[in-house]
Amino acid sequence: MIKFVSKLTNHRLPLWTTYKYKIMKRLLFIIAMLIASISMNSLSLAQDISARDQCLKLGRGVNILGYDKAFWQDHTKGRFKEQYFKMIKDAGFSNIRVNLFPFSQMDSLNMIDPHWLETLDWVIEKGLEANLMIILDLHEFTAMADNPEAKKEMFLSFWKQVAPRYKDKSNNVVFELLNEPNQKLTVEMWNRFLAEAVKIIRESNPDRTLIIGPGNWNGIESLNTLTLPENDRNIIVTVHFYYPMRFTHQGAAWAGEYKNLSGIKWTGTPEEKEEIESKLKVAADWSLKNDRPIFLGEFGSYDKGDMDSRARYTAFVARTAEKLGFSWAYWQFDSDFIVYNIDEEAWVEPILNALMKK
Ligand code: BGC
Repeated sequence: MIKFVSKLTNHRLPLWTTYKYKIMKRLLFIIAMLIASISMNSLSLAQDISARDQCLKLGRGVNILGYDKAFWQDHTKGRFKEQYFKMIKDAGFSNIRVNLFPFSQMDSLNMIDPHWLETLDWVIEKGLEANLMIILDLHEFTAMADNPEAKKEMFLSFWKQVAPRYKDKSNNVVFELLNEPNQKLTVEMWNRFLAEAVKIIRESNPDRTLIIGPGNWNGIESLNTLTLPENDRNIIVTVHFYYPMRFTHQGAAWAGEYKNLSGIKWTGTPEEKEEIESKLKVAADWSLKNDRPIFLGEFGSYDKGDMDSRARYTAFVARTAEKLGFSWAYWQFDSDFIVYNIDEEAWVEPILNALMKK
């Protein structure tokens, strides 16, 4: 009997130990999976979300970082500070459109300076941590417009390097091929360039949502000239809206005929509202007909206009865009058209309220 019991125990002990070991292994596996899903922002995900749902998720956003040179040299010394990611989220924004100027950071072989890329890694990491969607917007529109054929290789090289680098990021990261193609970068040329860029990106990012806008400064009236790869449905189309220019760009040094204007108001008369609605509706109709969702990637008014008019205008454009089903990003956080005053560390309340008002 004793023999039997000891045999039994002897036999059962290792079995029970193996069983415990298996349970432990399973538990460890479950814990690892839980940790992985919590940090899913940095992991690859099955990207089964449609462009329309991605566009909805983009919601309300703001353009950041374009004109912060010091930041791109050392992100601890720029105007934009780490805590702003969360602050932007807490203020009600759900996307940041990061305006990128990498051309001056490329060597003779068009390789991007690793330090600049590490800064971009950091921006993405912090943006995702703050639960923001992040649009990587190649903002080299002036260089591309001045000499498109000469700059084409830089344009494609950028996506050849950036796309694979972020291929495993979650679908909260979105690529915008190029801000406001214009002038010498004609609509025909842009259609050719964008097709090549899409092909390059799709090699490493078959499921990444892309944002692409039409030529002529992403103008709504140019939507009909835009040719997209028909079978690629994971594309959001972007337009910019600064109408009426004489109001939104009054006093802006770069704005030609509007640079000497001042005192232009936007009072929200039925005619003024109708003009905006009918122009934005052209984009909505195009969207419906072509089954492509719309992201209004820039709108706003220069700081020289009176604040009441600017707030009224901003609210009206934002609400109209939302009614038409567009997501949007305000132009811009810092520099000019500002919604946040870095020197005073304070939101420009009338603009922020205009953007967030329901
Ligand atoms: C440009 C800015 C300009 C804004 C409004 C943006 O696309 O990058 O420099 O202030 O449009 O004109």
